[in-house]
Amino acid sequence: MDNLYLLELINEAKSRGGGLLLNFEDKPSVVVLTVERYNQIMNTRSSTQVLEPTTQTQMQKQTNIPKKVLVTGGAGYIGGHLVRQLTKSGYEVTVLDNLSTGKKSNLDPKATFIEGSLADVSLLKDVFAANKFDGVFHMAASLEVEESVREPEKYFENNVVNLTHLLRAMHEAGVNKIIFSSSAAVYGQPDHTPITETASLRPANPYGYTKLLGERLIKYYCEYLGFQAVAFRYFNACGFDVDAHIVPTHQSHLIYNVMLVAKGERPALQVFGNDYETADGTCIRDYVHVLDIVSPHILALEKMANGAKFEVYNIGTGNGVSVAQVANATSEILNKIIPMDMAPRRAGDPASLTADNNKLVNNLGYHLQYSSLENIIKTSWEVQSKM
Ligand code: WQD
Repeated sequence: MDNLYLLELINEAKSRGGGLLLNFEDKPSVVVLTVERYNQIMNTRSSTQVLEPTTQTQMQKQTNIPKKVLVTGGAGYIGGHLVRQLTKSGYEVTVLDNLSTGKKSNLDPKATFIEGSLADVSLLKDVFAANKFDGVFHMAASLEVEESVREPEKYFENNVVNLTHLLRAMHEAGVNKIIFSSSAAVYGQPDHTPITETASLRPANPYGYTKLLGERLIKYYCEYLGFQAVAFRYFNACGFDVDAHIVPTHQSHLIYNVMLVAKGERPALQVFGNDYETADGTCIRDYVHVLDIVSPHILALEKMANGAKFEVYNIGTGNGVSVAQVANATSEILNKIIPMDMAPRRAGDPASLTADNNKLVNNLGYHLQYSSLENIIKTSWEVQSKM
């Protein structure tokens, strides 16, 4: 029975005073009772075991009960990897995804999947009414820099308005822990690199603006409405957990396009600008393996019990690599020619974005372990060469 049908049954039983009689072949067959209604009935009889809804503290005492979390965007590239790490760590995961960019094949079969949009306020209400979540990982967002320049309102709608729906549903359901997928795009063109979390926030494109607005909204909930939150500013997410059988959900990023050339599906890599103020003239980014992104998410939720309010962490390696360096390294590692065609600059691209990850390492205590350029290239090739 899928979760949504269960939800309908629960709501129907509630709307009928707690009890619902289901007929089968015109004969009364099943009675659906809410716990409250069941206890009312049982209370009228002596010495009958009454169902006590387990209180949150009792749940916490029984440490073997997996923590229950909601992952929005759990059918996506990063969200899909996060869900697998969560179920592997014993979490009970519900995924909410509208499959606008996510893929059903990216879903972890151990997770409960609800297909739907964060714009559907009544669905959100039902999902939170039917589940006592310990926390929410908000991974759902539109995330393409160039597209955000072309369609800013799509980004404000999906990345900001839909976040307000999620936060309100959480607040009304008494769920107050959220881990938020933010981005290095909030920095825009930094004054210097590597970039610390205290650097000026000057997003250079609508995508970055929406992530900054998202952080500000969540910070308000932490300061005034009793929430606890961590926002992770991802630098350039890439690579794969090859055992997770997850495929890319976006076809514009650099490493995806380099692999298309390696596969022979494109004659050359289009390099968007080679006149930047960098050593070889091409843009520098901080490429971080997706497992080094999702692992600290789980750590952050587990450490959040210590009462922290709102924290922001960069997730990056601290090592900047240029477009040309990525292409040349791929050529060496895969022993394939990666020709490069110089093309005009792309709107919204900062010249160089490299993370200072000291806070992630020293405060949160997460040490990156997957993000060598070699592992990123090899796992990307492992997955994309089979697509
Ligand atoms: C990287 C560099 C391009 C493709 C992405 C996401 C954003 C954020 C950061 C998480 C740029 C150049 C690219 C190509 C190229 N992540 N390039 N030829 O724009 O840094 O941002 O990661 O929030 O979600 O958009 O990544 O891979 O698109 O570009 O020359 O075919 O490679 O100009 O300098 P970007 P990207």
